[in-house]
Amino acid sequence: MRKVKTKKLFLLFRIVYILDRPLIKQGFRDRLLKTTVSWLSIIDSGIQLTAFKWQLLLNKQDAQHVWGFCEMSNLKRTLEESVVRAMDGRDKELFPFLPYIFQDMWELGTSPETVTGLIRKHLTKRSGVSFLDLGCGKGAVSVKVAKEFGYKCLGVDAVEEFIKEARRKAEEFEVSDICKFKKGDIREEVKGYKDLDIVLLGSIGPVLGDYFSTLTALSEVVKRDGIVIIDDGCIEDSSDFTHNSVQKRIDVTRQIRDSGMMVVDEVFVSREEIEGTEKGIFSKISRRCLELAEKYPDKMELFMDYVESQKEEGALLGNEIICSTMVLREKM
Ligand SMILES: C[S@@+](CC[C@H](N)C(=O)[O-])C[C@H]1O[C@@H](n2cnc3c(N)ncnc32)[C@H](O)[C@@H]1O
Repeated sequence: MRKVKTKKLFLLFRIVYILDRPLIKQGFRDRLLKTTVSWLSIIDSGIQLTAFKWQLLLNKQDAQHVWGFCEMSNLKRTLEESVVRAMDGRDKELFPFLPYIFQDMWELGTSPETVTGLIRKHLTKRSGVSFLDLGCGKGAVSVKVAKEFGYKCLGVDAVEEFIKEARRKAEEFEVSDICKFKKGDIREEVKGYKDLDIVLLGSIGPVLGDYFSTLTALSEVVKRDGIVIIDDGCIEDSSDFTHNSVQKRIDVTRQIRDSGMMVVDEVFVSREEIEGTEKGIFSKISRRCLELAEKYPDKMELFMDYVESQKEEGALLGNEIICSTMVLREKM
């Protein structure tokens, strides 16, 4: 076991050594860095990461990517932690209660209308299109995409009850023959797809890591002329505000550029729109949390903390955090 780790460590030092050579061709350097970052996602050793970070301090830009990867990385979290975090919760004990808390909502974050509008504008191809919705929730976006365009859609989510509801909705909208849903961990699932036309990450936050590692992984999944749609938030560059899972705009822009992708369109959500939606969501969530607190008094703190975290996140959206839906393509 120790031998294997030493071998990996040695290989890592070799890669870093090559990356540090000033004369190395940019394209090769980029490819090597991408491979290393995706490789980091499969090795699981603090020693290797520490050694790698230490070495990379010689090269500031690469060090930033690896730091970003480590800071934002969701890969070592359990599935329950990943889901609860994506739903703005702080305690994984909340996981089994999420279907109850979100029972009054079909849309869990991303506006299906914004996504369909962007697809209409950016994808000229109409038939044989494949659409993958990672962290699809109850499938509100996939079902509407399938209904409007007749695309072959697949939604993946970790919550069984959400998947069941998504399948029910696909039946209701008469698209169940083309719109399928699967229960799974998208951090693993994403490795199994290739040559897709559209991949959506709708309001899931940094489940696949920071923008650089996310887009590096997705560039293996979409076709060269395919698109990635990301609905997410970032912090304005002039702001002093910091958040453990939201990055500054300047960092997002840099990571997109370094990943070899570019933003071809972006729809911003106005403060008024966010306020309106958040109010509705908050009242539904707090009502269900109060019911749960009454039913399980020993878990009262868990549910009240969730209401509090929803309130805090809601106040940040549209103020400290700018929300937008981006369309990204590989640079040709
Ligand atoms: C805020 S919801 C957004 C749902 C949907 N995209 C929408 O906009 O309606 C975040 C979703 O990400 C899912 N999720 C988070 N981490 C995941 C993981 N590692 N694997 C699969 N699903 C995950 C959660 O279960 C949840 O349904």
